[in-house]
Amino acid sequence: MSTNSKLNILFAASEAAPLIKTGGLADVAGSLPAALRELGHDVRLILPAYPQTIDKLGKVSTAATLKMGGHQQPIRILRGTLDNGVPCYLVDAPEYFSRQGNPYLSPNGHEWGDNAERFALFSRAIIAIGQNRSQLKWQPDVIHCNDWQTGLVAPLLSTEPGRPATIFTIHNLAYQGLFDQSTFNRLELPEELWTLHGLEFHDQLSYIKGGIVYADRVNTVSPTYAKELLTAEFGYGLEGLLSHRTDHFSGIINGIDYQEWDPNNDSRIPHHYDHHSFQLKQLNKQALQRAFGLPDKPDALLFGYIGRLVAQKGVDLILQVIPGIIDRGGQVIMLGSGEAELEQAMEEVHQRFPKQTGLFIGYDEDRAHQVEAGCDAFLMPSRFEPCGLNQIYSLRYGTVPIVRHTGGLADTVIDVTPETLTNGTATGFHFNKATGTALWGAVERALDFYQHSRSHWERLAITGMQQDLSWASSAEHYQALYIKALSDLET
Ligand code: ADP
Ligand code: GLC
Repeated sequence: MSTNSKLNILFAASEAAPLIKTGGLADVAGSLPAALRELGHDVRLILPAYPQTIDKLGKVSTAATLKMGGHQQPIRILRGTLDNGVPCYLVDAPEYFSRQGNPYLSPNGHEWGDNAERFALFSRAIIAIGQNRSQLKWQPDVIHCNDWQTGLVAPLLSTEPGRPATIFTIHNLAYQGLFDQSTFNRLELPEELWTLHGLEFHDQLSYIKGGIVYADRVNTVSPTYAKELLTAEFGYGLEGLLSHRTDHFSGIINGIDYQEWDPNNDSRIPHHYDHHSFQLKQLNKQALQRAFGLPDKPDALLFGYIGRLVAQKGVDLILQVIPGIIDRGGQVIMLGSGEAELEQAMEEVHQRFPKQTGLFIGYDEDRAHQVEAGCDAFLMPSRFEPCGLNQIYSLRYGTVPIVRHTGGLADTVIDVTPETLTNGTATGFHFNKATGTALWGAVERALDFYQHSRSHWERLAITGMQQDLSWASSAEHYQALYIKALSDLET
């Protein structure tokens, strides 16, 4: 197959921005399909029909109905179009998806007890479309699956004749979709899949293993995380399996949506700017300080954090360095929600330093853009980070990232060293160990740099703004992966 063949691609995910989002998977599913369409492919997105998703998609019609075993009512496939032109199918099974709460959790924060059933149905609907058993009059050449929620697609398809090629992208190996053996039996999955070479993982049913074992090609979202996944430290016991597939396993760095994240055309921030008018960023800083009740201090280095409050993100390390930042005259703004203890620990630090820290516990897209536009530096001390998007948004907004040297953070931010300063490539600060002391080392370097020479700091920020962080090149890598998967199928 040549690179200029037009492919039909069904892009399957459990969330996609702007329809429904809990994390970075939604950003990717909301923007990569559009980039692939720019390459000439007919890419269509498929998601579960959560109530918010139907509402936000606007005009939808019934494109097909599917009869599925165990369901009395036929499952409807709704069709609409995203604002970016990507056609979108929604699998409408109200008993599974029409609920308050988020895609995975009930309003009280517990996982839905029937997640295995919900995403098995989603996967079976994807297969029905893949095998042209729906009335859509459209069949994909490639099904691109993402994360454990789509992990059953490849194994269930693997024995079907005339099937599409399958790609499985791991966005985060920490979330695997593990269920007990009785769930396997209840779902009436083919018995031959219950083996160590199949879906069984330490006596449990593993959805993510389905994708890793059976997809024609497997990838993750950065080259460094791809290498890390082959080690015991990051592989959760799946490193051996991934090592077996190294010739079919790769890392492709995420791009970002240049329309949604553009400091020169962002309706959520008060003052637009680009690298030619970098000094206007200062006005966003002032607005942000005011919005978070901090004193107007143009010369205080303002650090930001946005993200889920979970151990992965190293938020506890940030809490350790806040007193030091404040001693050196800095300020910190944090936006996030997640584990109760981390939320509480953040509240406590904020109460201790109300005039030097700003805090918003919750999920708020407007504030996320304002923090990116208004801060000078961005803290991302993740223990592991498959790709990470906020450090990339930070680069685009001239907000210098301070990152742990891991996963996509290591691949996207170039550390300040004598060499990178001389050749003008430096864009941020790295540190290695996941400790408060190591993070402090990087924060101190940033403070010294900022306080020593504002023009050098500006150069660092502007170098970040000038990186090509769009999907253009990564979409071509996905295109190449699809072509490889199709040729695997032919041989
Ligand atoms: P992950 O997917 O592991 O959470 P990423 O960095 O890939 O990490 O993506 C996180 C995405 O979620 C980013 O778009 C970020 O802006 C957004 N986000 C996380 N927490 C919040 C929040 N509290 N409010 C608004 N946006 C948030
Ligand atoms: C996951 C990862 C994050 C990545 C995102 C999108 O949620 O934790 O690092 O950026 O997926 O691929």
